[in-house]
Amino acid sequence: MAQAFRDLCRDAYRQQGFGELAKLWVHTLADVATTAAAEHVDVLLNGTPLPEHQPPSVEFHNVHKGFETRSGQIHMALHSIDLTVKPGEFVAVVGPTGCGKSTMLGLIAGLEKPSQGKVSVMGKPVHEVSRQVGYIFQKDALFPWKTVLNNVLAGPLFRGITKAEALDQARDWIHRVGLEGFEDFYPHQLSGGMRKRAALAQSLIIQPNVLLMDEPFSDLDVQIRALMENELLDLWASTEASVVFVTHDIVEAIALADRVVVMTAGPASIKDIYAVDLPRPRNVAEIRFHRRFAELYKEIWEDLRSEVLKNYERIRQPEIRKVRYS
Ligand SMILES: Nc1ncnc2c1ncn2[C@@H]1O[C@H](COP(=O)(O)OP(=O)(O)OP(=O)(O)O)[C@@H](O)[C@H]1O
Ligand SMILES: [Mg+2]
Repeated sequence: MAQAFRDLCRDAYRQQGFGELAKLWVHTLADVATTAAAEHVDVLLNGTPLPEHQPPSVEFHNVHKGFETRSGQIHMALHSIDLTVKPGEFVAVVGPTGCGKSTMLGLIAGLEKPSQGKVSVMGKPVHEVSRQVGYIFQKDALFPWKTVLNNVLAGPLFRGITKAEALDQARDWIHRVGLEGFEDFYPHQLSGGMRKRAALAQSLIIQPNVLLMDEPFSDLDVQIRALMENELLDLWASTEASVVFVTHDIVEAIALADRVVVMTAGPASIKDIYAVDLPRPRNVAEIRFHRRFAELYKEIWEDLRSEVLKNYERIRQPEIRKVRYS
């Protein structure tokens, strides 16, 4: 096990530009054993805890985040964020480009520290890379030098379970995401949708309390995207994970989420939060024809539109204006 861990670290750091991601991933895997085992024992002894007895999965308390610019000034990305994500809840975050959505995910994962305020995961302040959190990035997060099976297998191996048991779990998840028969394929041999499925298996097999997804399906075509969204809902329903899902697509946000958080133009604060009172289970291709869906879309778009315009005015190049209107 220790040797396997060292081998993975060596492989990870050998890959230029892959170090940070691998580091996060390895950290995430490393403690799942302890957390999952402790929770499992707790459930066995006390029964499944009611959500109100659990701490919130994620909490932002008056969080501000600034980044130092090259000129030494502070660029504020987030302003006074208060947000609670309940256990098992699916929260989507929408907002203009560059407003601070990915920064919010970075704070939850422990990749960034707040300049002011506090971020907690499962009731504990985040001080370092948070190990109860799975993170699916917009770009592929698979280890390119490992097969599908070995990508998915790495997580359970670090939980200290036997290779045979780890293989069982990995095969089960590969089956659940529909990749049976592709166990020996490398990521570059898979389609975009298949890579997303493998990434989902890789993240969900470690049973994270919180799954962060940063525009995970934005590079897929419309049909595959709808399939992946439905698959995500099915997989999420089979876990107890909370999801924080960043997207630019209001339709995707409403179709998937329990609540949609609308952010202002940067520095981002929370403009409004919408409860999505649509029935589950949902089929994302059909739920958009629900009368309530259209109402929610209209309300959220009206809220978001002014922020998008504000942002657009801010980033528009004066040179472009001159050419266009001269
Ligand atoms: N590490 C960093 N150093 C300096 N500035 C940063 C850093 N990370 C983010 N920023 C700045 O913080 C702001 C918010 O960035 P962030 O990536 O969170 O936006 P976003 O809402 O995810 O945008 P998009 O929708 O385009 O992905 C941007 O102005 C960005 O330039
Ligand atoms: Mg982003």
